[in-house]
Amino acid sequence: MTLQAAQEQSARSSDGDKAGKTEKADKADKADKALYGGTSTRRITVHDIAAAKRRGEKWPMLTAYDAMTASVFDEAGIPVVLVGDSMGNCHLGYETTVPVTLDEIAILSAAVVRGTRRALVVGDLPFGSYQEGAVQALRSATRLVKEAGVGAIKLEGGERSLPQTEMLVRAGIPVMSHLGLTPQSVNTMGYRVQGRGDEAAHRLLRDAKAAQDAGAFAVVLELVPAELAAEVTRSLDIPTIGIGAGPDTDAQVLVWTDMAGLTGGKVPRFTKQYANLRQTLGDAARAFADEVSGGTFPQPEHAFH
Ligand code: KIV
Repeated sequence: MTLQAAQEQSARSSDGDKAGKTEKADKADKADKALYGGTSTRRITVHDIAAAKRRGEKWPMLTAYDAMTASVFDEAGIPVVLVGDSMGNCHLGYETTVPVTLDEIAILSAAVVRGTRRALVVGDLPFGSYQEGAVQALRSATRLVKEAGVGAIKLEGGERSLPQTEMLVRAGIPVMSHLGLTPQSVNTMGYRVQGRGDEAAHRLLRDAKAAQDAGAFAVVLELVPAELAAEVTRSLDIPTIGIGAGPDTDAQVLVWTDMAGLTGGKVPRFTKQYANLRQTLGDAARAFADEVSGGTFPQPEHAFH
């Protein structure tokens, strides 16, 4: 082999090595940064959420309303935990989300922040805490950021909540917007699929674009036709988070008590129960009660002398 041929072969193999190394480094970088399954242990930020959309990563979000449950989800790698006003139905015993107060959200958000190390914790602005306008929204959101330590807030509405979203983003508070079925409007909207028909679909698309233009970092799409959710997802640079919105959103959220089978009675068709905690907890409570009434608990190993 001539000297020139040897030099060319060595350059080729070094280029190959470099390409291989770059590919490996890219893979390692992706593995480190993945929202779900990533190796990084620092607290997730809205910048990580934006990067996931660019990578095309699909990710999960769950609600939580207390420190212990939140710690389980955090340890399971759930990257975003929402302290939703669904706590009204699922935790506080109200019929709807409407009665939930900012104090309740603040106390339970602080608990969820204390129970998590990695997840981005999003606090929900409850009904009546932001509808008066941007200044009220800023006051309410500031409480959740300062007192509870949440990394972002969620509020319902696109165009109708534009001044609020703009004000919060200007103040440095990341905003997740919530469109489609917005449960705080249950008294006017009911619980039905939103965005059906051309006009309603265009309105939802406009709302989603308005939220993005106002600086929202993500948009929840609740109970909207799958095709419309897919179209919104394609048209936005920020991620969409679906609940009852089909498979083509960037992320999926479920209310944790629905997901784990703790909710009693009928659960919405769009939810999936990955466990039957209601049965498990009931069985545990009955076993405990049977042993107490039968005198078999406590045993000597549970007693002190
Ligand atoms: O309050 C909540 O839990 C929510 C989710 C259903 C998105 O808004």
